[in-house]
Amino acid sequence: MKTIITFGTFDLFHEGHLRILERAREMGDRLVVGVSSDAFNYSKKQRYPIIPEESRMNIVRALKCVDEVFPEKSMELKQFYCDKYDADVLVMGDDWSGSFTLQGCEDIYLPRTECVSTTEIIEKIRS
Ligand code: CTP
Repeated sequence: MKTIITFGTFDLFHEGHLRILERAREMGDRLVVGVSSDAFNYSKKQRYPIIPEESRMNIVRALKCVDEVFPEKSMELKQFYCDKYDADVLVMGDDWSGSFTLQGCEDIYLPRTECVSTTEIIEKIRS
């Protein structure tokens, strides 16, 4: 059983989110997703997500390609979560290239889907 783990905010869920999760799942047998908590997201991006964490987790959990979801509470807990969920591979978009070095868990960065991001969606709505 090969377990893949990935992390993200997944706010205003869009196709870039769907594609990274589908591609990550194809790399193994089980996909576990850490969804950034509202407080963690604030510390990372200096804004609260539009969609609250419970709803973001429910949306990600409902996807066919996702097997398990948990709230990610801190950047420093990556190794702890990888150990806890027995992850073999950490998959992230290549905006995170080389950001993580983990014991017992390979890190792989996939190309981001072009022309879509939560930040751009928010800016488009604002303007
Ligand atoms: N992602 C992707 N392609 C996109 C947008 C996101 O592959 N166009 C990936 C990211 O690389 C990350 C995951 O989706 O591995 C979750 O990203 P997240 O930060 O939640 O989404 P963004 O849309 O990038 O949000 P923001 O604009 O707020 O940074």
